[in-house]
Amino acid sequence: MAKNSLSIVDNRTGKSYEIPIEEGGVIRASALRNIKTSPEDFGLMSYDPAFTNTASCRSKITFIDGDKGILRYRGYPIEELAEKSNYLETAYLIVKGELPDREHYQRWENNIKIHTMVHESIKQFMQGYRYDAHPMGMLLGTVGALSTFYPDAANINDLESRRLQTRRLIGKMPTLAAFAYRHTRGLPYVYPDNDLSYTGNFMSMLFKMTELKYKPNPVLERALDVLFILHADHEQNCSANAMRSVGSSQPDPYAAAAAAVAALYGPLHGGANEQAIRGLMEIGSVKNIPDMIKRVKNRERRLMGFGHRVYKNYDPRAKILKKLAYEVFEVTGKNPLIDIAVELERIALEDDYFVSHKLYPNVDFYSGIIYQAMGFPMTMFPVLFAIPRTAGWMAQWAEMVRDPEQAIARPRQVYIGEQLRHYAPIDQRPKPTQREDAVSEAI
Ligand code: CMC
Repeated sequence: MAKNSLSIVDNRTGKSYEIPIEEGGVIRASALRNIKTSPEDFGLMSYDPAFTNTASCRSKITFIDGDKGILRYRGYPIEELAEKSNYLETAYLIVKGELPDREHYQRWENNIKIHTMVHESIKQFMQGYRYDAHPMGMLLGTVGALSTFYPDAANINDLESRRLQTRRLIGKMPTLAAFAYRHTRGLPYVYPDNDLSYTGNFMSMLFKMTELKYKPNPVLERALDVLFILHADHEQNCSANAMRSVGSSQPDPYAAAAAAVAALYGPLHGGANEQAIRGLMEIGSVKNIPDMIKRVKNRERRLMGFGHRVYKNYDPRAKILKKLAYEVFEVTGKNPLIDIAVELERIALEDDYFVSHKLYPNVDFYSGIIYQAMGFPMTMFPVLFAIPRTAGWMAQWAEMVRDPEQAIARPRQVYIGEQLRHYAPIDQRPKPTQREDAVSEAI
């Protein structure tokens, strides 16, 4: 009869082991430790750089089936949420696990909005950045600085404290992001207007000039809401993993969220949409696409906005954004890069290299085109990713804090360095050329 276990024979010793298979296809890496050649032996361990085949947690938040192109938050398909929900409601779903009823939604919205203001010292802190500071760098430093404003956040095992910090950070992220943007423009910061929606207020803090009240364009306000829904969580991506990993040493969540922002900054994660736009601008015209495809196939460069660690089929978020782009252009006028993007996608999806490598457009392929049409500079793109992802980060962090199986994240390593050697006085060490060769490898 079929058994839910794995039999392993260690050919070094001839011993056999039975390891349980859990959750329909998971083995515990710690089970390998029992496989030893002698009682003193450390036992086997698995080697998995970049965690390509290692689950670091059990989670109830986001489900992805990368082969089928499925993304669900708490069981709800991303397509339904993008069509019917708004960002704050989706954030509630991600953080709390269920969609709210009307009363809970109103309370949640109010609880987020009362946290949109930031301490005046935060404003002064931001004014200290150089005039040309990257807004993502400013956000990263300022999220970390929140840790010093809310010492109560250190009570990570207190449910009420976790809830408060979650509302605070979701409430304050648009304000910090907008202040960073205004700073780069040399414009005075605009305080929150809580009569407006979450995204409408964000637009007001970004774009309000001398008018008494900013009126967001409803199509663009809704488009930003959809973009925020699509970016709200994405299970164990690099920044969620940073949030959990740093959070596992039990600092307050602002310190962990600063690490998550840092992880998102990189061009392989939240910085990819900027790179995708730069790639499209470099192509410049539809007639240059075949040359770019050739360079990608020759491995001279990557096509940014293509490929994904998990999706090996179309990223469902890219499908929604492709459609959304044309709705936005009705208001903003067409971003000419869309023609290059659509044609590039068409040609790539017919090409053997892309098909065999399962490379499809990801969320970053179209989001930058929309942001650019809405008037955002490219440096703001990762910031626009960080605002909605805050709901995901806080949910992932809270899940980690409550999980009895989680402990400080501390991977093992396979040591490949020098064996024991002894300290030599400085003038008895190897000749500089030999030493420099060894040292230069380290940096
Ligand atoms: N263009 C050309 N070739 C690619 C690309 C690409 N964008 N992505 C992967 N490949 C190739 C790669 O050269 C390798 O080929 P081979 O096996 O022949 O050597 C193969 O596909 C597997 O690549 P990988 O780097 O091992 O795959 P990964 O799972 O480690 O990387 C990725 C995933 C997203 C980092 C990668 O696809 C990439 O660099 N894409 C461009 C950056 C990008 O768009 N990032 C945004 C990701 S979605 C938003 C987010 O989650 O932040």
